Amino acid sequence: MRVRELGWSISYTSRGRKTIDIKIILESGASGSFASPAGASTGRLEAPFYPSGGLEEALKVLKDLSKALVGQDFSSQREFDIFLSEYDGTGNYSRIGSAVSLGCSMAFAEAAAREMGVPIFHWLSNGTASSYPMPLGNVLGGGKHARGRSIDIQEVLVFPLNAPSYREGYEALIMVHRRVGELLAERDRGFTGGKNDEGAWTTSLSDDEAIQLVVDAADQVSSETGIKIGVGLDVAASSLYDVELSSYYYSRRNRYLDRDSQIDYIVDLVERFGLAYVEDPVEENDFYGFSKITSLCGDKALIVGDDIFVTNVSRIKLGLEKGSANGIIIKPNQVGDLTKTLEAVREAGLGGMRIVVSHRSGETMYPHLAHVAVSSGAALFKCGVVGGERIVKHIEMMRIVEEYGGLRPSYLGL
Ligand code: PGA
Ligand code: ZN
Repeated sequence: MRVRELGWSISYTSRGRKTIDIKIILESGASGSFASPAGASTGRLEAPFYPSGGLEEALKVLKDLSKALVGQDFSSQREFDIFLSEYDGTGNYSRIGSAVSLGCSMAFAEAAAREMGVPIFHWLSNGTASSYPMPLGNVLGGGKHARGRSIDIQEVLVFPLNAPSYREGYEALIMVHRRVGELLAERDRGFTGGKNDEGAWTTSLSDDEAIQLVVDAADQVSSETGIKIGVGLDVAASSLYDVELSSYYYSRRNRYLDRDSQIDYIVDLVERFGLAYVEDPVEENDFYGFSKITSLCGDKALIVGDDIFVTNVSRIKLGLEKGSANGIIIKPNQVGDLTKTLEAVREAGLGGMRIVVSHRSGETMYPHLAHVAVSSGAALFKCGVVGGERIVKHIEMMRIVEEYGGLRPSYLGL
């Protein structure tokens, strides 16, 4: 597949920040486009979004990359991504930035899939994808996604445990989201109907009251629909962590928790609220704290690493050695291309971790992430509940499931 043209224009994430919309046209005329999303609670080891000179430098890079890329012939996604990685030359895309690298990688995947006449997930998995995930979405949010004006925990999430299909599971999550809004109107005198960057409600309740409210909403929807709903958290603990004090700061309560108290607090939350999912319960370098929580709660809940693994194979290997987690967040722009993303998925999957493919808080309108989730054999697709930039990905997942048939639902067995 020979590249005929690389094009780009400035675009915007759902937070209104600039990103780059990238288009690749192949000699056959087949084309693909993608604009990378950007996170707020980014792990320190993530590939940077832009090179050190920012957007301007990224645009210069694209001009130069276009000269190198046009006319090149690639027979696989891997060949294309290796070309990108070698062109960057730093090992983590810090010279060209993930907005450029992932934009190109995804755009090429779409163009190649079109040329082959197959869906993107098929191209990425060489036709081996056999299952689809269930949706996972936050309904109540805080932390950096709410500018410190809501709960300290970044996300309270829900997911269906026994939904017969993706669509029915997703509709149950919409019901929980709506019910949470209704319960907040009853229980939170400061509630103004405000939502955060990912469309989750914000609240003036305490963290514990907020979790209880979501558990109540989930229970109500479960008994109305017969679909069991799991409740979970993304603590995003690195955002709460004060390195100098080696403690976690909870601003709502004006309290510091040291490492052991943080672990006790998380284990207590899992037990008290029957949580089925906890992401980033401790800061991104505390493999030991992760392992402790996994050994205490891993039989009843998915303990998931995001900032600790940053979709990076060597971090995943460390985590597997130490038994740090039984689940992993996969975010393609943390590593900057699809081949590295799928290598991380493979490493984690072989080690027995469940795969959770995830959106970013600053998303774009492209649906491609649903294909990454299916080609990864993900158990969960973490993609918010409402908001156009999230819904477009859920709809793509339904389209994949309903149009291409033959894929079975993946249940966590909790
Ligand atoms: P981010 O947050 O996209 O802002 O990094 C999402 C997450 O922490 O999972
Ligand atoms: Zn996270």
